[in-house]
Amino acid sequence: MEEQKCRSSPTTWTIVILSLICILGVCPANGASAGADASSSLSTYVIEVRKPTDKHLATIEDLDTFYRSFLPATTAGSNQEQRMVHSYRHVLSGFAAKLTAEEAKAIGEKDGVLDVRPETVLSLHTTHAPDYLGLRRGVGLWEDSNYGKGVIIAVLDTGILPEHLSFSDEGVPPPPAKWKGHCNFNRTSCNNKLIGARSFTGSSSSAAPYDDVGHGTHVTSTAAGAFVKDASVFGLANGTAVGIAPLAHLAAYKVCTADGCSESAILAGFDAAIEDGVDVISVSLGSLVPLKFPSDPVARGAFAATEKGIFVSCSAGNSGPPSYMVSNGAPWVLTVGASSTDRTIKATVRLGNGQEFDGETLYQPRDFEPAQHPLAFSRGYGDDAPGKVNVRDSRFRYVRVKQGQEIKDAGGVAMILANDPYSGYTTFAEPHVLPAVEVSYVAGTEIKKYIETASAPMAAILFKGTQFNGSFAPAVAFFSSRGPNSISPGILKPDIIGPGLNILAGWTSPVDNSTDKKRAFNVISGTSMSCPHLSGVVALLKSAHPDWSPAAIKSAILTTAATSNAKGQPIVDEARRPASIFATGVGHVNVSKAVDPGLIYDTELTDYVPYLCGLNYNDEDVSLIVGKEVSCSSIESIPDYQLNYPSITLNFVHLGSNVSNVSVKRTVRNVGPANSRYKSVIEPIAGIGSINVSPGELVFTKANETLSYTVNFTRKASPQAVDAQGSITWVSAQHSVRTAVAVSFKWSWGL
Ligand SMILES: *[C@@H]1O[C@H](CO)[C@@H](O)[C@H](O)[C@H]1NC(C)=O
Ligand SMILES: *[C@@H]1O[C@H](CO)[C@@H](O)[C@H](O)[C@H]1NC(C)=O
Ligand SMILES: *[C@@H]1O[C@H](CO)[C@@H](O)[C@H](O)[C@H]1NC(C)=O
Ligand SMILES: *[C@@H]1O[C@H](CO)[C@@H](O)[C@H](O)[C@H]1NC(C)=O
Ligand SMILES: *[C@@H]1O[C@H](CO)[C@@H](O)[C@H](O)[C@H]1NC(C)=O
Ligand SMILES: *[C@@H]1O[C@H](CO)[C@@H](O)[C@H](O)[C@H]1NC(C)=O
Ligand SMILES: *[C@@H]1O[C@H](CO)[C@@H](O)[C@H](O)[C@H]1NC(C)=O
Ligand SMILES: *[C@@H]1O[C@H](CO)[C@@H](O)[C@H](O)[C@H]1NC(C)=O
Ligand SMILES: *[C@@H]1O[C@H](CO)[C@@H](O)[C@H](O)[C@H]1NC(C)=O
Repeated sequence: MEEQKCRSSPTTWTIVILSLICILGVCPANGASAGADASSSLSTYVIEVRKPTDKHLATIEDLDTFYRSFLPATTAGSNQEQRMVHSYRHVLSGFAAKLTAEEAKAIGEKDGVLDVRPETVLSLHTTHAPDYLGLRRGVGLWEDSNYGKGVIIAVLDTGILPEHLSFSDEGVPPPPAKWKGHCNFNRTSCNNKLIGARSFTGSSSSAAPYDDVGHGTHVTSTAAGAFVKDASVFGLANGTAVGIAPLAHLAAYKVCTADGCSESAILAGFDAAIEDGVDVISVSLGSLVPLKFPSDPVARGAFAATEKGIFVSCSAGNSGPPSYMVSNGAPWVLTVGASSTDRTIKATVRLGNGQEFDGETLYQPRDFEPAQHPLAFSRGYGDDAPGKVNVRDSRFRYVRVKQGQEIKDAGGVAMILANDPYSGYTTFAEPHVLPAVEVSYVAGTEIKKYIETASAPMAAILFKGTQFNGSFAPAVAFFSSRGPNSISPGILKPDIIGPGLNILAGWTSPVDNSTDKKRAFNVISGTSMSCPHLSGVVALLKSAHPDWSPAAIKSAILTTAATSNAKGQPIVDEARRPASIFATGVGHVNVSKAVDPGLIYDTELTDYVPYLCGLNYNDEDVSLIVGKEVSCSSIESIPDYQLNYPSITLNFVHLGSNVSNVSVKRTVRNVGPANSRYKSVIEPIAGIGSINVSPGELVFTKANETLSYTVNFTRKASPQAVDAQGSITWVSAQHSVRTAVAVSFKWSWGL
């Protein structure tokens, strides 16, 4: 699919692939070279060591000295300063250092060293969205949660443009007393909105985390940007730009550059955010291929954060639409896929025969006449036709705007980009350099058919500006990574979808010449964009329910999600088919319902040990993840589907096709009225013959009371479906607690 270069690393077999997260414009063309130092044979390694027990190792300085004792003697003195990259306190017991392969091998043989690995490199995977999510000034959840007041959101990304108006602190109170972080910009740049700013990508730990990509500024302003009036790009997508939690505090941790995000920096970012006292960590980066938890820096950092009560929200990846590609799939994080909103930046193709096809573009010059021009298909091999509207196949994600430049250079009048079959109806609104429109695969096929059959094919392009109430929203974007979860097949991933297509948010430089830097906005797409929407939602819930654990907040979001679109139809995918549960997760976030879920599934931290043992990781790997000695043989492990998760997943590809009965246990806690009576309502699942829930009624008499139930599933001998979905919903007078059930019967690429 992608023609991106791959960097190989011994720990993961293919690697950094495409810019996981952002699709447009800013993505680096090549994989990174972050691990290797060009001037020598030094590479960055992550070294994990047995925890020091002596009390005198309590301070950061002592810990540093302890870690340095593992470095080879040849690197003594000032040389050592340059070798040490990061020391970790929270995410793991260990450090990152620049070493030669021989030195790394020698360290690996030292007493007390648990793991030495060359670091891996991961990739970087609105005005309207808050309104679309039902957030309105003065009413509802924004009012109830005080717009996220008092909550601190950390963003691990490419840094930030501090002077952007989205980071104005008007109306934002000073940070809570627990905040321990600091700001490496000068004093005027940080304020009560942007309370922390640090960089982990360069050689200096005091460097200011300027964003020279745009991605970090975009995702940070999406999560918790301030109200900015008259935001737009080329006058389109215009309105008041605002983040999801406008009064929450922000802390920027720069762990990525345009070249990617190195493991040592990601771990350092998590480590600092945990130390600083944040509430939510937003992570719009990851690997193209799913990584096993022990060697996945996001899973590792997020586990340490979760242990401290910090919520971690991640992008699902942009590797869709094939199956089994979802990344960041650990059960202790929220994994967010991307869908459209009801806003389109519309343009229409009108063919000479009167047929019309809608598409999108961000560049809509007012002086372009909607007149008919000769129409031709161009392969892009120097055959662009001057004086004509050229139709091109949009094969590559990153060169769409460049395709337009080529047509412009050849003297073409306009461009129609025709989607490939995998992109389907997902169209991007991009800052093209000539009149252009991107149309769906179906529309492109019709247009090409017309060119072949008409004697003198003609077309006009009509610009329609910003339009609302798009009829299929939310639809899953083609690029949004799909399950099943290859690392833990019994946990549904992605968990949920949120707005991630054509999202307007803050940017680092004006894309349309019209504004100054501090009011720069851009419209980009990716699961990178959907993740911070959910991070903002988490901040609102945290502000409304300060005592809820990360698992409780996740449960509230998942059990209240919508499974149908605004028209009451099932949510569709990029081909406008009803979307698989492995594309949508439990559905689309419904913010106003999540604040009052009735019951919650509260996954206990201690449950993760039997869960990890059940995934067949060895004792060393489980110990590294949970940060303490574990012997799996001395505890009772559980299969992953038995973890007290707010959705249920039965993957018969993994369980074995000879398994016919599965019994699943769940425990719920009453966070609604003390006296509540819930009845189970079962939505049948294709290929599952019987579903028995016991007990069929849950009767609570106290606040916070917990009750358990069991569901027995019996599958049919030969189900027709590849995958299937249904639910078990606990319904009381006031609440409806939907527990989505995902079933996978057969292996399939899903294409
Ligand atoms: C502080 O940073 C701002 C924005 O980056 C810059 O405009 C200003 O000149 C800086 N002030 C000082 C004293 O360095
Ligand atoms: C956006 O701009 C258009 C055209 O100038 C205007 O009609 C519309 O009211 C604007 N929308 C908003 C939300 O400001
Ligand atoms: C969308 O349509 C509904 C009615 O169907 C209308 O109330 C609402 O104002 C429309 N929204 C926009 C942004 O046009
Ligand atoms: C921005 O300005 C440059 C230089 O004046 C010009 O070449 C370019 O076409 C302008 N771009 C837009 C989108 O107006
Ligand atoms: C979200 O829930 C509210 C309250 O039940 C409902 O009115 C609204 O239609 C829901 N929104 C979506 C998108 O399902
Ligand atoms: C199911 O089949 C696998 C091999 O495919 C076998 O190891 C296992 O024992 C079987 N389980 C049952 C319950 O028959
Ligand atoms: C599976 O469950 C069904 C119905 O609950 C029962 O008839 C059958 O005997 C069970 N099979 C096994 C292998 O336990
Ligand atoms: C579910 O299955 C278990 C054993 O697998 C059995 O003990 C229990 O009675 C069953 N419950 C229901 C409601 O079928
Ligand atoms: C419910 O339990 C949570 C966590 O165990 C606790 O923080 C909270 O105070 C309890 N609430 C009530 C009303 O007992």
